[in-house]
Amino acid sequence: MSTRAAGSVLLRQLGPRVFGPVSSSPATMSPVSSSPPRPPLALAGGGERGGTAVWVRLLSTSAAEAKEEAAASKGNAGSTAAAKAEAAEAAKEGDGKRDKVVSSYWGIAPSKLMSKDGVEWRWSCFRPWETYKPDTSIDLTRHHEPKVLFDKIAAYWTVKLLRVPTDIFFQRRYGCRAMMLETVAAVPGMVGGMLLHLRSLRRFEHSGGWIRALLEEAENERMHLMTFMEVAKPKWYERALVLAVQGVFFNAYFLGYLISPKFAHRVVGYLEEEAIHSYTEYLKDLEAGKIENVPAPAIAIDYWQLPADATLKDVVIVVRSDEAHHRDVNHFASDIHFQGMQLKETPAPLEYH
Ligand SMILES: [Fe+2]
Ligand SMILES: [Fe+2]
Repeated sequence: MSTRAAGSVLLRQLGPRVFGPVSSSPATMSPVSSSPPRPPLALAGGGERGGTAVWVRLLSTSAAEAKEEAAASKGNAGSTAAAKAEAAEAAKEGDGKRDKVVSSYWGIAPSKLMSKDGVEWRWSCFRPWETYKPDTSIDLTRHHEPKVLFDKIAAYWTVKLLRVPTDIFFQRRYGCRAMMLETVAAVPGMVGGMLLHLRSLRRFEHSGGWIRALLEEAENERMHLMTFMEVAKPKWYERALVLAVQGVFFNAYFLGYLISPKFAHRVVGYLEEEAIHSYTEYLKDLEAGKIENVPAPAIAIDYWQLPADATLKDVVIVVRSDEAHHRDVNHFASDIHFQGMQLKETPAPLEYH
């Protein structure tokens, strides 16, 4: 019996038991099943036809969720009743579809969360307890003076040179610039965190909290992107640029971190200093009225615990504070290596963002 045929027989025998009874087709129902019907799971039915249906179902669920998020992001949390109503309608529509598709997993209903103002939590990508009030009093002017040749040539001037094409490409289109740069800024934390994670597994050693700190940074940067994409919509050639830059930057940073984490963290420290500068320029244009100070996206209001009437200016201020924190964390990490120590020997600055 060929492997394919064996697989087919096995699936026919075990499929109904593993994936539960099929709701629509009596021909594929398990004759021995006397238990109450389980919620239909994604793979129920099996086979080619079942597989196709699964994809259709998954896509339709995703579409409902996308509509829900789009509706939610149109207004701010407290003040835009229209956005709430639209989100509720989209959620209702989505719920209807979900009931037919995946209402629960192994009978465990998804938990319903409430925001602090008593509204049902609308975001699946972060939870109410993961939101925070950023420290906007952080020193924005702090600069790591490149004293040794290593800092001067390798990191400081590398970053300064990288800024030239960025300035030429975006000029003063700061909304677009921020969105594009966040696609890059979210890479180093993930790469560093991943490599430290693998090292911890390989060497049976603790990380000092640095894995979590770097992954938190990556997630925080990704939330910056989720926020700015509500403000500026990328054009097709900008999306293509992101694809190319990510391919190059991920691999370059991965190799750089393997060779010298001291160098890699220093580069990020200086990149963050540049980010602070860019957001300060963005603020200047907002204050001068050159860029419209639109209401803050709903996702930003919930993530940074901003007031319901917050504007884009408030968002830029809190994002800039986050960047200042990333600057300090990465210069700190580089300094630890510079002193001949490993990151795990010094506790990481956790839950500070
Ligand atoms: Fe950022
Ligand atoms: Fe950053």
